[in-house]
Amino acid sequence: MENFIYSYPTKVFSGKGCVKAHLKDAIKTFNKKIMVTYGGGSVVKTGTLSIVTSILKEEGKEVVLFSGIMPNPTWEKVKEGARKAKEEKVDAIIAVGGGSVIDASKIIALQARTDEDIWDLEINKRGVSSVAPLPLGAIVTATGTGSEMNGGAVITNEETKQKNGLFVSAPSFAFLDYDIIKTLPRKQVLSGAFDTLSHAMETYFGTSSTLNPSDDIALSVMRNTVDNINVVINDYLDKEARSNLAWDSAMAENGILKIGRKTDFQVHMMEHQLGAYTDCNHGEGLAVLQPIYMRHVYENVLEKMVRFSKFVFNVEEKNDEETAKAGLNALEDLIKRMDLPTHLMELRMKDEPSKLITEENLKKIAESTILIKSGAKALTHEEVLEIFKEAI
Ligand code: NZQ
Ligand code: ZN
Repeated sequence: MENFIYSYPTKVFSGKGCVKAHLKDAIKTFNKKIMVTYGGGSVVKTGTLSIVTSILKEEGKEVVLFSGIMPNPTWEKVKEGARKAKEEKVDAIIAVGGGSVIDASKIIALQARTDEDIWDLEINKRGVSSVAPLPLGAIVTATGTGSEMNGGAVITNEETKQKNGLFVSAPSFAFLDYDIIKTLPRKQVLSGAFDTLSHAMETYFGTSSTLNPSDDIALSVMRNTVDNINVVINDYLDKEARSNLAWDSAMAENGILKIGRKTDFQVHMMEHQLGAYTDCNHGEGLAVLQPIYMRHVYENVLEKMVRFSKFVFNVEEKNDEETAKAGLNALEDLIKRMDLPTHLMELRMKDEPSKLITEENLKKIAESTILIKSGAKALTHEEVLEIFKEAI
């Protein structure tokens, strides 16, 4: 077990109707002027925005809106949000959206409090801001990233073509409400659920000592995620399964699975750079890359792979090698049954895949991928390129 310090800043409200029941309590410590941030308009269409703003106004708050945070949020959009928060002198922020809106809002909350460029500080200078961000709460509309319970924010710098994690405080509260998430389209429900599975896999297959409690918790989260995905494949509106997946999503990325161990996250590093060049959907990009990566590295973590196969997918063959391969087949079968893409060319991108998935771009994507040393296998940039080429 690695040394660790653990404390939790996020109060979670979960359950059908929890926003209407508890948002007024959650905002009690927020001062008067609140900026509500959201994405491209789904929350306007679904009525979620008006539910949230009505509650805020009933509680005597003044509401400022900041919209248009796109999937794979850009650094430019974060700076625009921070400028607005400063100009309007807002006291707090409530993010109403999926991972993209919550991530962007975390950094808006920090950038609004300082003139120092947070991207430059964290990415180029490897520094950490000593400034306290604006108070932030999250109302989750799309599950999968777990962003609502962690301090990470994945932001794309279009100028430098980097999609990187920045770090700040986690939201002080998070709402997981079936009435809000039920409007999410099936495709996004499933790509988000795969993101959750990927987070737990990327944690589990990192370096850990034997009998580490986090490994066993990760196995349970993965099995529960797969079991609920199997329900959602047939009925994506199933309330129980969707609520279970919402909590799996938070559990997979709230840090609990990472306690006392090192993590992998090589596939995420690859997907992030793929996203920087193509703007593809995060969960779908992972669905393409994760199984190919696992086939490259599973022999290095055979014992873990065997436990994963038996516990998560209920498969067991006559020896470890065969059991591991049966687990890999089960993972690929799940991805197909989820109707997720299995090749890069099937991903939805900002332009025709054939224009973006070129040999030259793949080389740039591979070379700019951050390499992880504590994963199942420490890859080289050449091996990363091999995986991308296999994924075409
Ligand atoms: O923009 P709007 O109109 O709201 O539409 C969104 C968006 O197009 C739509 N949507 C969200 N809630 C909806 C809804 N449509 C109908 N009804 C609802 N209730 O869904 C689309 C996708 O939303 P997005 O927030 O982009 O999805 P997701 O939650 O998957 O977030 C992806 C981002 O999170 C980052 C990813 O890299 C990506 O940028 N990640 C953040 C992590 C973190 N902070 O811990 C960890 C992850 O590994 C991940 O990297
Ligand atoms: Zn992810």
